[in-house]
Amino acid sequence: MGHDFGLNNQPLRQNFLPFNRPQIGDAEIAEVLETMRSGWLTTGQRVELLEAAISKYLGGDLEVVCVNSGTAALHLAVLGAGLGPGDEVITTPMTWPATVNMIMLAGARPVFADIDRHTLNIRPELVEAAIGPRTKVVLPVHFAGLCCDMEALGQIAKHHGLAIIEDAAHAFGAACEQGLAGCLGVAGCFSFHPTKPITTGEGGALVSRDPTIAERARILAFHGVTRGARARAAGTADYEVVELGFKYNMLDLQAAIGLHQIAKADELRRRRAAIAAVYRELLGDLDGELLWLPPDAPSDWTHSWHLYVIKLNLERLNLDRAGFRAALRERNIGTGLHYLSLHLQPFYARELGCCPEDFPEAAWASERVVSLPLFADMTQEDAADVAAAVIEVLKQNAR
Ligand SMILES: Cc1ncc(COP(=O)(O)O)c(C=O)c1O
Repeated sequence: MGHDFGLNNQPLRQNFLPFNRPQIGDAEIAEVLETMRSGWLTTGQRVELLEAAISKYLGGDLEVVCVNSGTAALHLAVLGAGLGPGDEVITTPMTWPATVNMIMLAGARPVFADIDRHTLNIRPELVEAAIGPRTKVVLPVHFAGLCCDMEALGQIAKHHGLAIIEDAAHAFGAACEQGLAGCLGVAGCFSFHPTKPITTGEGGALVSRDPTIAERARILAFHGVTRGARARAAGTADYEVVELGFKYNMLDLQAAIGLHQIAKADELRRRRAAIAAVYRELLGDLDGELLWLPPDAPSDWTHSWHLYVIKLNLERLNLDRAGFRAALRERNIGTGLHYLSLHLQPFYARELGCCPEDFPEAAWASERVVSLPLFADMTQEDAADVAAAVIEVLKQNAR
């Protein structure tokens, strides 16, 4: 990457570095073209192949239902677990609205438990404290691709007779001692949005060891329509509508992309991990001073490195997060914002009656998080440019 020199004689990237870019290779493009020429665009053989490939990747003993978003997978998971009015689900406020919206659309009530400011993951002891007579499910989000403490959450769930549904939107390929993210509860939900560890353009998958949940998800994902027993027995194409469903099915066009993404999922993850390692090395001196770096996973876990989220030490800086992001933008570097805690958003504050002080760690993190560029096609030089810009902006604004 060539450099110009800015006002302070500091290097300035010539090209804008986005915060994320999907890695779409020739194989994905060829498969999409072939699908378009095949005459079959919607759910068909390629979706079946992708479901089989995901199941194989996850160990071979899970049902996989591909859908058109991670949000849809979450909706089907909460419905599949039987959640409805009167039920409560304990989850994190530090997530994308999809997580909580799907709980609410199922008629259940989300109950937040605060996070650990270091990992940004839900804290098991606060989950336990939030359990009440109506609690049915614990719904952790593996933030940025670092697994939650599934040992502690598993014990709490077992002790109180609760189910776990994992929002593994960030965590395809992540693992902890208990196993692969998404495979550790009654259902796991992945997102294949373009920024995610693997993509299908838009898309997602529900995975479950419980054939009843998977079968219900398939039916709900397609209008509540099933091939009824009579049709199956008669070998005809008749169908029955057995409940009120949705239109959540994945297209073969989307699966065409996914088939080649899953084949390189581990390679993409390793490349992101290598970029994260560059950040850790180059920004390590500032860690605990002007910023906090995201924690690595324990050595026997796998981090999917979906996001690289730093936290600014605002008490030591003369600029806020917006100023920091603008300064990086001026240096041709894009950033992301994951997330503004949901308990601070007007809708949830109103509906759930929460105040900023209720979840102080999530409120603390909400002001300080910034996602640095992280994607498989970034070069080490790109990462060095980002680190240099971060160091320059923070040092210039240190107090
Ligand atoms: C934590 C989390 N859950 C759920 C979703 C929803 O996934 P999708 O965008 O595929 O619907 C996202 C997407 O950003 C997410 O980050």
